Amino acid sequence: MTLRFTLLGDPVRHSISPAMHRAAFEVLGLDAEYVARRIRPDEVGPVMRSAELAGGNVTLPHKLRAARALVEPSAAVRATGACNCWWRRPDGELAGDNTDVGGLDIALSRFGFQPQGARVLLLGAGGAARAAVHALLEGGASSVEILNRTSARAHGLRDGAIAHATDADRVADAVRVVAAPYSGATYDLVLNSTSLGLSSGDPLPFDLDRDAVRGRFGAAFDMVYAAGETAWVRHARTLGIRVTGGLDMLVGQAVLSLERWFPGRAAPFEAMREAAAAELALRRGPDPGDGSSVV
Ligand SMILES: NC(=O)c1ccc[n+]([C@@H]2O[C@H](COP(=O)([O-])OP(=O)(O)OC[C@H]3O[C@@H](n4cnc5c(N)ncnc54)[C@H](OP(=O)(O)O)[C@@H]3O)[C@@H](O)[C@H]2O)c1
Repeated sequence: MTLRFTLLGDPVRHSISPAMHRAAFEVLGLDAEYVARRIRPDEVGPVMRSAELAGGNVTLPHKLRAARALVEPSAAVRATGACNCWWRRPDGELAGDNTDVGGLDIALSRFGFQPQGARVLLLGAGGAARAAVHALLEGGASSVEILNRTSARAHGLRDGAIAHATDADRVADAVRVVAAPYSGATYDLVLNSTSLGLSSGDPLPFDLDRDAVRGRFGAAFDMVYAAGETAWVRHARTLGIRVTGGLDMLVGQAVLSLERWFPGRAAPFEAMREAAAAELALRRGPDPGDGSSVV
């Protein structure tokens, strides 16, 4: 029997997840299919519970609702309040994970960046930033300073991280909301989790070449991914900063999703990365113009 998986989001028409998962199913010889489906917020729970689906992924703007539909949320879902991957247990109940967290771990490791003891400047405070804060703290980062356009949202992110932490005092110490990088401070990593860079006319999420900050960042990571690379990745590289884009994180979350759906199977990272890169290249040209994610 063919197992059915689906990506739920709105919009989803630029999604590259079907290409990644179909490539993996083929390599592993799995009788499974994966489609993207655009749904309304009130459809999230009912669609996830529908008996014909074995599981799937969730993207903007439904990750918080998906978390609430789970009977068995993983520790990462409980910590972030967000679910991007779910599956049906043998008893028919829904379990889920936030594989963006592990996807970032995989990408940082491939980048050769060790979070243990690291000082991080995190740009943005949306859903991706929640996953980043959790991954960085679990990885032992010594500080995460959140810089976001809307400071109330950054404070909400910090409060949520403290509320869900088992070691609230450490998190309260390590996570700070800032209006600008601390004067004179240096950072091991600056991580962009804003959506700036998705559309070709976007400004840079952060100018690394201003007098006040020049030379203060050891490495840069852009969660946004693009065919070729984003303008911010090019900007960092021009300044001699070691930098990578978000493709490995995207592939990493897909790899971990597949391994949740098929326990004991090792997902083929390189084949999935190749499929993702090929699909992204097809999207080169006029950008969607609707700020849509292509997860
Ligand atoms: N590589 C991966 O696997 C992966 C995984 C997840 C997400 N992502 C990417 O990460 C990005 C963010 O996703 P998300 O789920 O966190 O989205 P989100 O929840 O909508 O958050 C968007 C963030 O971007 C900021 N932002 C948007 N427009 C801005 C502007 N004009 N100026 C300054 N800040 C702006 C927002 O600031 P405000 O709070 O002030 O609005 C917020 O911090 C997307 O590009 C997504 O594709 C990548």
